[in-house]
Amino acid sequence: MHVVLLGPPGVGKGTQGVLLADALGWRRIVTGDLLRAQRDAGTPLGQQAQGYMTRGELVPDPLIIAMVREQLATFASGTSVIFDGFPRNSSQASAFKMMLETLGLAVDQVAVLEADDDLVVERISGRRSCPTCGAVYNQSLAPPNRDGFCDKDGIALFHRADDEPETVRHRLEVYHRETEPLIAYYEGSRAPVHYIAGDQAVELVQTALREALGVGVGAS
Ligand code: AP5
Repeated sequence: MHVVLLGPPGVGKGTQGVLLADALGWRRIVTGDLLRAQRDAGTPLGQQAQGYMTRGELVPDPLIIAMVREQLATFASGTSVIFDGFPRNSSQASAFKMMLETLGLAVDQVAVLEADDDLVVERISGRRSCPTCGAVYNQSLAPPNRDGFCDKDGIALFHRADDEPETVRHRLEVYHRETEPLIAYYEGSRAPVHYIAGDQAVELVQTALREALGVGVGAS
């Protein structure tokens, strides 16, 4: 199963993706996390990406597509994968389609998480993330048990540089202009597109997501 999660920054793609992958034993390809890992490791790709990310712009397509291809190649055949943050525009979607076709695969389902821009700006301003396992918290809405540290592995949480409200507003503009049109693109594909209200409690979003995808614990 290959599932694309679409939705604006801060709607909960990472939060829901971690829950789904942990429960079902699926893998995730999260282009934002991959880019941040490259940046923190100081690789040439990370150095090239850094300015785009800080400004809230999309990183150039060739870098992203090569990175996804490389990551996908590390998975055993038959692995179920959630794609979070990719594809992000029409050229990435076309390249992704071809990439999967060469492997005899396709996007099987698309889930669109929806919420108002004002809500996601509020959520993102309180976000804290685990650099190790990708778990996501919120200082006021979903705090960790011990302030500043991940519940799962005890690692210190971090606040993203691109989570300042002004940058988030710009990321939203980029989302509406570049990424939102992919909803229509996938509506025209063979993959069913599911719309999930992302403004509910985390557990309710997860339940709705699993129902929409038709997966329960233990499914693959
Ligand atoms: P990326 O890391 O992908 O950021 P994003 O898409 O903007 O999404 P976010 O990670 O901000 O939000 P999310 O939907 O995952 O929400 P989360 O679960 O964390 O991209 C960053 C940058 O990298 C881009 O700007 C670009 O420069 C570059 N990039 C990445 N992919 C690229 C690509 N394909 N092409 C080109 N460039 C690319 O939740 C947010 C907060 O809300 C958290 O605090 C959480 O605890 C809280 N929360 C979540 N759900 C709920 C809920 N139901 N109720 C209450 N609080 C909630």
